[in-house]
Amino acid sequence: MAGISNEEISKIRNAASIVDVISSYINLEKKGKNYFGVCPFHDDHNPSLSVSEEKGIFTCFVCHKTGNVFTFVQDYENVSFIEAVKIVANKVGIKFDAGIQTESKYQAHYDAMELAVKLYQNNLKSKDGKKAREYLEKRGLTEEVINEFEIGLAPNAPDTLTKLLKAKKIPDNILIETGLSAEGNILYDKFRNRITFPIHDRQGRAVGFSARIYDTTEGSKYINTQETKIFKKGEILFNFHRAKSEAKKVGKIIIVEGQMDAIRVYSSGIKYVVATMGTALTKEHIEMLKRLNVTVILCFDNDSAGETATLSVGEELTNAGVDLKVLRLSMEKDPDEYILKYGVEKYQDAINNSINYFDFKLNILKRNKDLTKNSDISEYVKSIIKELNNSNDEILIDLEINKLVKDYGLDKNVLLNQIKKPEKVNIIRVEEKPKVKLSKYHKLVEALIFYMINDIKYIKLFEQELGSIPDDKYQSVIEDILAFYIKYNYINIADFVSYEATLDNYELVMQILENNSSVELIDNDFVGIIEKIKVWKNENKINQLKDELKETSDINKKLEIMDNIAKLKKRDV
Ligand code: UTP
Ligand code: MN
Repeated sequence: MAGISNEEISKIRNAASIVDVISSYINLEKKGKNYFGVCPFHDDHNPSLSVSEEKGIFTCFVCHKTGNVFTFVQDYENVSFIEAVKIVANKVGIKFDAGIQTESKYQAHYDAMELAVKLYQNNLKSKDGKKAREYLEKRGLTEEVINEFEIGLAPNAPDTLTKLLKAKKIPDNILIETGLSAEGNILYDKFRNRITFPIHDRQGRAVGFSARIYDTTEGSKYINTQETKIFKKGEILFNFHRAKSEAKKVGKIIIVEGQMDAIRVYSSGIKYVVATMGTALTKEHIEMLKRLNVTVILCFDNDSAGETATLSVGEELTNAGVDLKVLRLSMEKDPDEYILKYGVEKYQDAINNSINYFDFKLNILKRNKDLTKNSDISEYVKSIIKELNNSNDEILIDLEINKLVKDYGLDKNVLLNQIKKPEKVNIIRVEEKPKVKLSKYHKLVEALIFYMINDIKYIKLFEQELGSIPDDKYQSVIEDILAFYIKYNYINIADFVSYEATLDNYELVMQILENNSSVELIDNDFVGIIEKIKVWKNENKINQLKDELKETSDINKKLEIMDNIAKLKKRDV
């Protein structure tokens, strides 16, 4: 991580009260030494998240999520570790150099994308961009909006961008891996003579483009960057990085289909808008939206495809427990055209009048029915009952039943008899990552490491008794622990987590913490763990020697190895 030291991260962590920071997101209540709250990382109904001010960590005893103050912010806000450090620094009033950036594995990719954004922008402003500028002007996009959304123009030539980026020392593989260039006889530009809209990830880094034709009707209207290492379409919503904070502020977010719609809505002053870019919502999208904890307003195109998409996306979002509203526009095709024609105030009114998802479904069920005819009423009521039976919102069920009684003069008991009683089991739906199945020894090694992260006395014992373990992955974590210990001469989980976040074994360390979140540190247990790992080490060594034995033909060497094996075996018993 360029430019930020562990000392600085540690200073910020020490200045921040983990209880205060987590309290700014969820309610915490003090019970004994610790604080408890409803865990935001799984579908929690009881306060399962415990926060320890003293240790500087949080742990959920249901989903086992754990970490320090940065990890919490990182996962709650869906940001990178370094972003989380910035947020926490901000909360405690420590000045933190905004220029600091994560040194990502994909830094070269991000750099290339950034250059491409700039080159396309410059090209739009050059004399070659005259027609494209006219097109954008005709669509009502001001220079300010063009600048804010970094709209550009891909040159009308086979490989202008590729050549320019190569001249800036961007290697061929990066050009290909970002999807900016493609391989033919030569390396050529993927986007040619199209208006370019950069697409950003949650951290606001440009990771892809959507590119539109403007002076022709030939070819696809838009072509987009293909899925790449940094452009994971399933995790990206157009404009999410700009819309996120406003969405939290106002408690809602609008989802539209096209980026042009999002640009129009946003630049008209309604900043809590994102676009799906014409694709279905993935599990990750839903998770992102759910995490925001705001009302989602679906505002897809005013056509039958838009209606179908509203139904399918609506179903998924409701199932995920998202509070959902629907805005179906009339007259114009999409929000862009609607605002251009009727103005933003009318659109704002429409947002305020958006209807509940359930009512939207009822409207569809009602369609083509003559509700003065008994047969149609019967069909309609049955279809509502069917929908209600898929819902576990008891209040909604009650309201709808009462409405049917009132509107169609039905007997309440007849209707209630058709409603399935929701099963009264308290299901805790933990959205767990597929658990890695650990061997007996890996479990022991994880416990060993957990102890070592908690107290230097265990590090010392490890050094005396074991020195190393026969597993490269875990050995590498142990080396990080030793390095931390040598450098700072103390250890605790909270600081070690920050330290590891800048290294390679972060995921594994988080896994170890999660798997051991309920472990209590007992010296005797640790000694037991050490003894068992010694046996494992021994077995490993024996197996290694056996392999050597097979490979050597030198009789003296063979005898020596056999002798060693015998010694090791004796130690085993
Ligand atoms: P639309 O056709 O609704 O686009 O497709 P739009 O926003 O109204 O575009 P304009 O106003 O004509 O410029 C919605 C989204 O689907 C994707 C794009 O992301 C678009 O924003 N799409 C559409 C494609 O990827 N390729 C296409 O050929 C068309
Ligand atoms: Mn449109």
